[in-house]
Amino acid sequence: IVSFARDPGNEDLPQPGSLEHYGDGVLWLKGSHIHAVGHYGDLAHQLPSDAHVIDYRGKLIMPGFIDTHVHYVQLDIMASYGRQLLDWLNDYTFPEECRFANHEHAEALSNAFLDEMLRAGTTTAQVFGSSHPGSVDAFFTACQKRQLRMLVGKVLMDRNAPDALMDGVSGIADSERLIQDWHGNGRLGYSVTPRFAPTSTKMQMDAAGALLRNDSSLWLQTHLAENSGELDWVAELFPGSRDYLAVYEEAGLVGPRSTFAHGIHLDNDMRKRLADRGANIAFCPSSNLFLGSGLFDREAAKQTGMAFTYASDIGAGTDLSGFGTLKAAYQVGQLCGQPLTAWQGFYGLTHGNAKALSLDNYIGQLAPSYEADFVVIDPHATSLLARRTQHCTTLGERLFTLMMLADDRAIYETWSNGQCQHQRD
Ligand code: GUN
Ligand code: FE
Repeated sequence: IVSFARDPGNEDLPQPGSLEHYGDGVLWLKGSHIHAVGHYGDLAHQLPSDAHVIDYRGKLIMPGFIDTHVHYVQLDIMASYGRQLLDWLNDYTFPEECRFANHEHAEALSNAFLDEMLRAGTTTAQVFGSSHPGSVDAFFTACQKRQLRMLVGKVLMDRNAPDALMDGVSGIADSERLIQDWHGNGRLGYSVTPRFAPTSTKMQMDAAGALLRNDSSLWLQTHLAENSGELDWVAELFPGSRDYLAVYEEAGLVGPRSTFAHGIHLDNDMRKRLADRGANIAFCPSSNLFLGSGLFDREAAKQTGMAFTYASDIGAGTDLSGFGTLKAAYQVGQLCGQPLTAWQGFYGLTHGNAKALSLDNYIGQLAPSYEADFVVIDPHATSLLARRTQHCTTLGERLFTLMMLADDRAIYETWSNGQCQHQRD
């Protein structure tokens, strides 16, 4: 069992006390929550005689992975060849999102996406629907059936998009209705979702900001400074704003529950303003590589105190797996002279992402009173993984091997709310 109580820091070894590791451990559940975690020798004799004991010897248990930025409606356009952001949106993304006007399609894709997500070991995500409110009803319904802790929102988009995807004034009313129906309903939360500055009028962004001012428990997700063509377009559309972030600040969209995807092309002034507001940037390494968007500077984030999280950004991302996201993050880091340790990577994917989403009282750690969301990892899932793992002498090496070589085959089981939601066949 491995769980991070705190940020392990940026050294090669984790800060003392940041990591909990039980080589021979017990994860004791009571219903949907964790009751106790500890060494087998300490806890075994306390277990009630009728306890249902599952033996996972040889496996590794970690908190469920968290994905802070992903588009469920883009599952079917993953790996669409050859374009950068703005062409990719027009050629592939917008036509695909038009299909979500159909409720059966939205239901089918919600379930297909959740199956894939759980197969990859991800138990919580912050998700974009399409601009159709029904796409979000379908997704929330599918999450509720599986009792998942999830954040979702309806895309707001009232200009510079195909007619079939633009919402106009009804976008805000539809968001309000979805908030009423779903926000705080069990483990579900609503994330207000203006797509990005080029596809919302100032009026729509102001109205989104009013929703947030009205209820401080709502989340906010959008995109920021991903691509150079996008930067030029925003400068042209908002000549009165001093920079891209100011467009969002002026609408009241920047706060402690705000996630801005990408944030590659920022200066230190914008980074510090994000840090001051407690917002986070979703680092989407496989997406940034796929669309050729650029290399996220983790070191600059650290220097300015700007929080960042790890995310897949499917469908521009190429990997729904948290392992795949960390592998891409490591590769981006190497190109920037900033290699990523396995400690930082797995802390980020679990506790770090939970904290940035203000969910760290519920998920992200294996500790008493936390919700029982966890993955059972099989370090011997493939012959190659088994060979490489055999040559590891430390936990750090074993985790790094998983980060670079593992995929969904290494996810033996995924549990959420105390129930097994995925079992590898
Ligand atoms: N910017 C605006 N919309 C999108 C989207 O769907 N994906 C990505 N990667 N960037 C965006
Ligand atoms: Fe995105």
